[in-house]
Amino acid sequence: MKKIAVFTSGGDSPGMNACLRAVVRTAIYNKIEIIGIRHGYDGMINDDFVDMNAESVSGIIHRGGTILKTARSKEFLTLEGRQKALANLQKHNIDGIVAIGGDGTFKGALEFSQISNIPMVGCPGTIDNDLAGTDFTIGYDTAINTVVEAVDKIRDTAESHDRLFFVEVMGRDAGLIALRAGIGAGAESIIIPETKTDVEDLIKRLEGGRKNKSSKIIIVAEGDEAGGAFTIAEQVKKRLPDYDTRVTILGHIQRGGNPSTMDRVNSSRMGFAAVEALIQNKTNVMIGILNDKISYTPFENAVKEKKELDKDLMRMLTILSL
Ligand code: F6P
Repeated sequence: MKKIAVFTSGGDSPGMNACLRAVVRTAIYNKIEIIGIRHGYDGMINDDFVDMNAESVSGIIHRGGTILKTARSKEFLTLEGRQKALANLQKHNIDGIVAIGGDGTFKGALEFSQISNIPMVGCPGTIDNDLAGTDFTIGYDTAINTVVEAVDKIRDTAESHDRLFFVEVMGRDAGLIALRAGIGAGAESIIIPETKTDVEDLIKRLEGGRKNKSSKIIIVAEGDEAGGAFTIAEQVKKRLPDYDTRVTILGHIQRGGNPSTMDRVNSSRMGFAAVEALIQNKTNVMIGILNDKISYTPFENAVKEKKELDKDLMRMLTILSL
């Protein structure tokens, strides 16, 4: 392993920079040349490669986003695009690659492995936490902290006006942000894609709840089958016209901001382990952390296996919101 390339891809997430820093410095420590690819797979196709050194990752451990920039590449979905990418990697004599991204990134990596022999190792960078093989993805902890902080603020208005709030959080296919943030923010209920949404049941719970509760917060994952927070709020409003109902969509504030300590530490551990994995000839695996230990999950399993939703956490949320 003489020369490694690293890139970030898919939606940005807080901690990607900390992971990059760890990759770059671990490579340098092992006397491996390190190149950054800007704009994810697009940069691989367009030869957007930059030399990296210890200084290029100075002062970034605490910054959200990604200094290498990121993209969701359409061209990489085509064989022609992937061939162009491979030609550029060969031109730069790349012996190994670290990909920091989510399921789209690893699906791309799997396709790429059909035509490329260059070893690739991944670090799970997504706020959604929807990858099997790791307890927490890079950015998830920061995102749920951002949601809880926002809901705490919303609760002030909810309590002052005796209102019912529907707060929509990110999670196109997964309700893991909604679940933990819901527990942390003391939500009445969460609405997520993993479970069947029964609006009637929600109405019953709202009607049957403690009457003297001045505020009620329902967290809705954007990907829920019943529609987003606006759609669900509309249905509830029709049935419970006496409720003063409001909707807040938190949107991209969940993806930004300084990474939490937990995200900085996990990202550093995973970036460090990714370079060591390449040195040990591992390929097509995602680095993760399971029970506080570094783990290696084949890309195939990381993207195919659905992360189990913790039913005990769901049950607890319901009980604690009595
Ligand atoms: O993949 C992370 C994620 O935050 C999803 O939860 C969300 O649906 C999506 O990104 C939105 O991404 P963008 O606005 O970049 O298209």
